[in-house]
Amino acid sequence: MARPDPRPASTAAIEARVHLHDLKPQLVDMREEVLAGLGATPRRIAPKYFYDQRGSELFEAITRLPEYYPTRAEISIFESRLDALCAILGRGNVLLEFGSGSSRKIRLLLEGLRPTAYLPVDISREHLLEAARALAADYEWLEVHAICADYAAGFELPWRPRSADGESAPITGFFPGSSIGNFERAAAGRFLAGVHRTLGAGGQLLIGVDRRKDKARLEAAYNDAAGVTAAFNRNALLHLNRALDGDIDVEAFDHRAHYNEEAGRIEMHLVARRDLTFSLAAENFAFAAGETIHTENSYKYAPDEFRALAAGAGFDTVEEFTDTEGLFSVFILRAV
Ligand code: AVI
Repeated sequence: MARPDPRPASTAAIEARVHLHDLKPQLVDMREEVLAGLGATPRRIAPKYFYDQRGSELFEAITRLPEYYPTRAEISIFESRLDALCAILGRGNVLLEFGSGSSRKIRLLLEGLRPTAYLPVDISREHLLEAARALAADYEWLEVHAICADYAAGFELPWRPRSADGESAPITGFFPGSSIGNFERAAAGRFLAGVHRTLGAGGQLLIGVDRRKDKARLEAAYNDAAGVTAAFNRNALLHLNRALDGDIDVEAFDHRAHYNEEAGRIEMHLVARRDLTFSLAAENFAFAAGETIHTENSYKYAPDEFRALAAGAGFDTVEEFTDTEGLFSVFILRAV
């Protein structure tokens, strides 16, 4: 007798543990936003435009570069201090991830924390469901409640998870990768205040933050020898060309990344190599040689500076972990 094909059953079993809560996030008008930014002084485009399919692949490649220490440093903290982290956070909570892309890190945490439910939050429904299904397939005990929302704008949980005794289950938020660094400092404070509202008093936040450090180390991380960060930066223009019917000569722009010490941030720019014109979304632009487009800020925090930011948003710092070189911090915060 032919053996039953296990795949349909397992697909059904996976689907039964993946629940989608679509909060229908408002999508900004890309055309309007990009044209306004390119027409502004100084010219700028938002870093979210790095991340089309190719941009996400390039970012993955960046995380493996020898010069780009943040991912390796953060993972080394999770690996070496997992027991201590889990002892503080407590097992059997609900784990809510802001974003749904950090699969290497989330896997370590899921195994250590054994949460009663995992709640990834992402603006891209497709990306969210793909990541949710992959985790539900690999962890048979895991219930996944995928929330389609714009976490940067703040959101209400669609329902309050309950623990076995019917009480509101404690929520542990997770925001790795120093993604907080891509918010302006004031916006980072507002974002943390929004996280506080989402988690509720008593909620905890596990967050990765890149530290201020010497200029040479920082600049090397954003000017890698293989040119992957340069390709990532330029890819934003390829993305615009495709999405907004443009004819930007991408090769006419140089990648520039430097550390602005006073502001405590890496700035990424694209610099026109020569005078040039292009059209995008039926608008014409003229650049003089040397003119720039500001594509990203990546803010770095001294430990006390981040504690103060978190305190301003209503969080106590419970613990801070760092790597052996003191490059990166992982904080456990508690919402008071
Ligand atoms: C996603 N984010 C935390 C990265 C960073 O370091 O700011 C993005 C990046 N930009 C250039 N390299 C990496």
